[in-house]
Amino acid sequence: MLHFSRRAADIQPFHVMELLRRARELEARGRDIIHMEVGEPDFPTPQPMLEAAARFIAGGDVHYTSGLGLPALREAIAGFYRDRFGADVAAERIVVTAGASGALMLALAATTDPGDEWLLPDPGYPSNRHLVRSFEGVARGLPVDAASRYQPTARQVADAWHAHTRGLMVATPSNPTGTLLTGDEIEALHRVTHGRDGLLLVDEIYQGLTYGVEASSALSRPALNGADDLFVVNSFSKYFGMTGWRLGWLVVPPAYVRTIEKLAQHFFIAPSTPAQHAALAAFAPSTLEILEERRHAFAERRDTLLPALRDIGFTVASEPQGAFYIYADVSPLADDAEALARRMIEEAGVAATPGIDFGHHLARRHLRIAYTTRRERLLEAADRIARVLR
Ligand SMILES: Cc1ncc(COP(=O)(O)O)c(C=O)c1O
Repeated sequence: MLHFSRRAADIQPFHVMELLRRARELEARGRDIIHMEVGEPDFPTPQPMLEAAARFIAGGDVHYTSGLGLPALREAIAGFYRDRFGADVAAERIVVTAGASGALMLALAATTDPGDEWLLPDPGYPSNRHLVRSFEGVARGLPVDAASRYQPTARQVADAWHAHTRGLMVATPSNPTGTLLTGDEIEALHRVTHGRDGLLLVDEIYQGLTYGVEASSALSRPALNGADDLFVVNSFSKYFGMTGWRLGWLVVPPAYVRTIEKLAQHFFIAPSTPAQHAALAAFAPSTLEILEERRHAFAERRDTLLPALRDIGFTVASEPQGAFYIYADVSPLADDAEALARRMIEEAGVAATPGIDFGHHLARRHLRIAYTTRRERLLEAADRIARVLR
């Protein structure tokens, strides 16, 4: 007798995993596959962080930290907000978590009762709707497209809001579209959520990975930094190149700290201690220098891949300014993006993620293509796709 909870039965797998399985099979037979489905930087963790972790581990004193994270790391993150974004964020309201994933779990666990609805952009990061479901909330997609740079507008949120709406989740830069919200737009969204006694959660996991636009934080806006209903998610995964270490953070309004602490203690006891010691070196000038070089490399990759995809015939109606994804409309080339993704793997040896992983709205028309691989490989991929479609 199997006993699956209803919530577990509702969780959908990543469709891209099917494609990945096929890619692995082809690779096992000697085919060269260019991986553009991957949502993580290909660069290794920067050396200063590896050395900090190695020094710490060599000491052998690998014990639990406080549930909210190492005080020194919380202070270092507060210092990062101050130095880079001119934002005064008290270390006491910074919670170190198991990636942005842990931060999202804690924020939702602390605020969501059964039936509470969260508004989120469609397309958007897939796990959000499943996390909302896991805490017995209801995820409601707001269809977004290139006209609003794939970000929800204040009007759209106001129109969708009803008595059971608990809040709005957005990401800037966004996954899968790489598009940004301006500070003014975030403030406008907050005016809507605040005016309805709701919450605003801003996922800044791709902060730092912006091209031609300065990195920013909602917390650098005085109207938002002091808000008692704003949660900001961040992570060491993307800009800091630490995906596998599983470390991120959550900035919470002061009144929520104790509740989040209780949840964090029971969910996780504490975030990974070696990862936290590695992250203590994340904000050192020598590390930031490496990270900025990588940002330039990502910008070059975007500037290589975007015109190459457009030359092939993909439509990219809203230019990505951040993260490392291009959300391409395949309709000039194919009727169904998932079928095209399969063809790309089989015939061109190129893996990309079908739009259906990110929601429903125009999902069958889109592919997410990640530039998390070297420039030469991106050009090679574009060449191969062009040959298949010719
Ligand atoms: C928008 C967004 N939020 C959160 C996450 C979770 O990342 P992590 O748990 O590695 O920090 C991801 C991962 O791709 C993401 O794209």
